[in-house]
Amino acid sequence: MAVVARAPAPEAPSRREEEPRLDLRRRDFLSAADLTAEELAAVLDRAAELKAAIGPAAVQPLAGRTIALLFQKPSLRTRVSFELAVRRLGGDPMHLGQSEVGLGVRESVEDVGHTLERWVDGVVARTFEQSVLEQLASSCRVPVVNALTDLEHPCQALADLLTLRERFGRLRGLSIAFIGEGNNVFHSLALAGCALGLEVRIAHPDGYGPSRSIVERANRLGQVSGGRVTVAPFPRAAVRGADAIYADTWVSMGSETGAAARRVAFLGYTIDPKLLAQAPPDAVVLHCLPAHRGEEIAAEVIDGPQSVVFDQAENRLWVQQALLAEIYRGAG
Ligand code: CP
Repeated sequence: MAVVARAPAPEAPSRREEEPRLDLRRRDFLSAADLTAEELAAVLDRAAELKAAIGPAAVQPLAGRTIALLFQKPSLRTRVSFELAVRRLGGDPMHLGQSEVGLGVRESVEDVGHTLERWVDGVVARTFEQSVLEQLASSCRVPVVNALTDLEHPCQALADLLTLRERFGRLRGLSIAFIGEGNNVFHSLALAGCALGLEVRIAHPDGYGPSRSIVERANRLGQVSGGRVTVAPFPRAAVRGADAIYADTWVSMGSETGAAARRVAFLGYTIDPKLLAQAPPDAVVLHCLPAHRGEEIAAEVIDGPQSVVFDQAENRLWVQQALLAEIYRGAG
């Protein structure tokens, strides 16, 4: 998934822009691997500045611009945080639901892309297949941002990493134990985490492992930083010595028909107080939400003192505001 170069970069950079910086202008963000380690770190730095209100808050690169939020699946966090991020950058978010657009059903993905590019300045899209997101990005000349596909959830990974950096003051050398399916959330976390020098562990039931090609790619990204993906034979082995324990739903959007079989397969993969006790006492608990208390995570854990899940949810806003600010830098 290559980063696609877009229209020529805007002219007349401000003083701040003259500082040596990485350039995300007019680029797509379809995969966590679309950003280099330096670019990921720059987005996290910018997000932290925005959160601390020490960045250039008055910069409104989206002034007079419209960003379409095209969602094939339901959302709370992604939709609200992107709407807010676009507004805070001076832009106008336009939500487009699947029931009205019918992406790939009412009309082809390509025709939707060719049409939207005539009106809007960017598309934030949540689709089932990653290939549909990529088709959309190939069909329109404005930046496209992945708001979750079945393969990846890169904006979630940015928020997860910002949350860890806030807690531990660093990322390199940390270890995350992901308990559950090697799904879209795991894939993006593995790619971005390995690039930034984390060990991303997973314990999963047979048949629910991550994509082999994503794991290979994540490990290649980790060759410089020391990051790596490791597979633990069972949850207790994964959480020992881990800095963070990550839970996600057993039944992802689109997997509902196999829900009963999944609930059987994932027995023993609940993050409960007994499992958490195997981790260091300062380990934090992550969950991308929505959560199912009593399934992938016990209520005492997600609502307990080690949980940082609502920091994670809040951080979706800051990282996405930072990402859009970089993509549209100098465009306002
Ligand atoms: N974590 C996440 O993406 O939440 P939503 O599905 O509510 O957007």
